[in-house]
Amino acid sequence: MSETKRVVIARLLLPAGRDLLEEQYEVADGGLDSTRERVLELVPGADAIVADPAVKIDAELLDAAGDQLAVVANYAVGFDNVDLDACEERGVAVTNTPDVLTNATAELAVALTLAAARDTSEAERSLRRGDWTGWDPSDYLGFELSGATIGVVGLGRIGRRYAELMSGFGGDLLYTSRSVKEDAEVKLGARKVELEQLLTESDVVSLHVPAAADTGRLIDASALALMKPTAVLVNTGRGSLVDSDALAAALENGEIGAAGLDVYDGEPAVPQRLLDAPRTALTPHIGSATHRSRDAMARMVAANVIAVLDGEEPPSRIA
Ligand code: DGY
Repeated sequence: MSETKRVVIARLLLPAGRDLLEEQYEVADGGLDSTRERVLELVPGADAIVADPAVKIDAELLDAAGDQLAVVANYAVGFDNVDLDACEERGVAVTNTPDVLTNATAELAVALTLAAARDTSEAERSLRRGDWTGWDPSDYLGFELSGATIGVVGLGRIGRRYAELMSGFGGDLLYTSRSVKEDAEVKLGARKVELEQLLTESDVVSLHVPAAADTGRLIDASALALMKPTAVLVNTGRGSLVDSDALAAALENGEIGAAGLDVYDGEPAVPQRLLDAPRTALTPHIGSATHRSRDAMARMVAANVIAVLDGEEPPSRIA
């Protein structure tokens, strides 16, 4: 009789996926407050590790797990937390959860675009504080999106869906991408431009590129200086795409209009300067946080683990 395989969930996997794994494997988890030390203690002997954006998968962790480790299943579409080379060198498959979170994340980007453009976060805070003294024609004057030029940096799945949703506002759509996206050009009238042109001409700039060596601090002081003083910057991708100090300075000095952010460099810490910056809508990395999406992601994690441990090709293999 073959031995029961062992799956280690570094932090938390929702029951939609965990239950599927428990049907056939021994499952252990570190819990939401799991530390690096706790994960290192848990992984020896694991056949599969379930990671998420807060769990760093590197050579040390893989070696601690041992040679039997067959798969790292990331509970996310982004995989900048995983050292792919280290996994490849050890013959460990890596999987992610694309598609099922596209709508949820694009919808949050739309929400942050609107919230930042109209400063609804500060308006609500002020109302809750009891500061509202009555309708004021000069108060909370924001940026209108109807007819606005929307710049989408990275027209992958989520960027494409964001562009589609934002096309309802009826303005021009610009995008950057390595390749021409014919479908978006034909169906949405989107136009491919260089980043510099997109930054200069857009009323909204929304980031949808993965975190990688060539996208680190893509939006730095010089990029922000190209943007319109009324422009809204939206980031639902990864915190590393933006130089947060430069962004805070641009907001403080009125060099850009507003920012809607869901992700931060060094999460879960959020730079104090961004917390204090004016005209910002900030959420705690909740892009994929809908019941439908997170359950589907959990099921996909389980399907990926089960496929690899059964010796089959997983539904969404990255490496
Ligand atoms: C992802 O999937 O990469 C998100 O950031 C987590 O929801």
